[in-house]
Amino acid sequence: MLTAEKPQKSWHTLVFNTSKNLTDLISDFLLNIGAVSISLEDAKSQALFEMTPNQQLLWDQVQLTAYFEEAANLNEICQKLKEVMDNPQLVIKTNTFCDEDWLAKVKSLFKPKNYGKLWVYPSWEKPEAEKNPVIYIDPGQAFGTGSHQTTSLCLDWLAKQSLEKKSLLDFGCGSGILGIAALKLGCKTTNFVDNDPLALTITQENCQRNEIQIPASIMQPNELPQTTYDIVIANILAQTLITLSQQLTDHVKPGGTLVLSGILTEQVEAIDQTFLDHFSARNIIQNDEWVLWSATKSK
Ligand SMILES: C[S@@+](CC[C@H](N)C(=O)[O-])C[C@H]1O[C@@H](n2cnc3c(N)ncnc32)[C@H](O)[C@@H]1O
Repeated sequence: MLTAEKPQKSWHTLVFNTSKNLTDLISDFLLNIGAVSISLEDAKSQALFEMTPNQQLLWDQVQLTAYFEEAANLNEICQKLKEVMDNPQLVIKTNTFCDEDWLAKVKSLFKPKNYGKLWVYPSWEKPEAEKNPVIYIDPGQAFGTGSHQTTSLCLDWLAKQSLEKKSLLDFGCGSGILGIAALKLGCKTTNFVDNDPLALTITQENCQRNEIQIPASIMQPNELPQTTYDIVIANILAQTLITLSQQLTDHVKPGGTLVLSGILTEQVEAIDQTFLDHFSARNIIQNDEWVLWSATKSK
């Protein structure tokens, strides 16, 4: 939840570059001495592509960020890190930030935007003039404000459909933005599914915020009944979509539509190969390097 009342907490970050081979070792070391989280980024703009479901890819040069609570002794940690890496000259950037900075940053990036006739507003803003349909989203720590291309491709697609009397499954619902949009655009029922319990809580809150009265169920993937839907929409990365292909296919009614997002242009062929045995009338819409893939299930 993005609420200003939360107690402010400070965090420290240590940022430094390391090589792919040392990443696991150094991450374990930092976690053992109190890091609460580690994130890895590309240090040298090296393109990586998904290969197989279980393959772990990592850049050759990695920028590692370690997060520590405010009580941590940064000087001591930096000293130990240099010793472990056997590199007294290691350049380590340190930074301290508080929760409120992060919340303010998320808020500042999320602006009201329309997708065809549909307006998406951050929950902390209200339209000056009446807008209809409009949805209010507080992403909390879940993905889904509409600002990422993979979500906006889905919202644009939904806003162009005739959704009256249709049922929809929002698979990988994140903030719930797609399912809530579908309900406001006329869908009769939506099921929301995510494997992250936090996303389910945030979806529940966003449903309440948008006064969703019509049947809407929010659950883990393994709780989903063996129902079929007119539309199944999933904005997840291509490799996960491929892994989930049987489940996604099974939930689409014959003659219904599967909508997939989170796909890079070069991954469309793999998606075609995975799904086109059961689907036809395939259509793609592109936005920069991202593609929305949709197709009709064979009867
Ligand atoms: C990119 S976010 C999309 C959120 C939102 N639907 C949107 O379009 O903005 C992907 C979501 O899929 C969920 N997810 C990833 N793998 C999943 C899986 N195997 N089963 C169910 N949900 C999954 C993630 O937890 C995350 O909330």
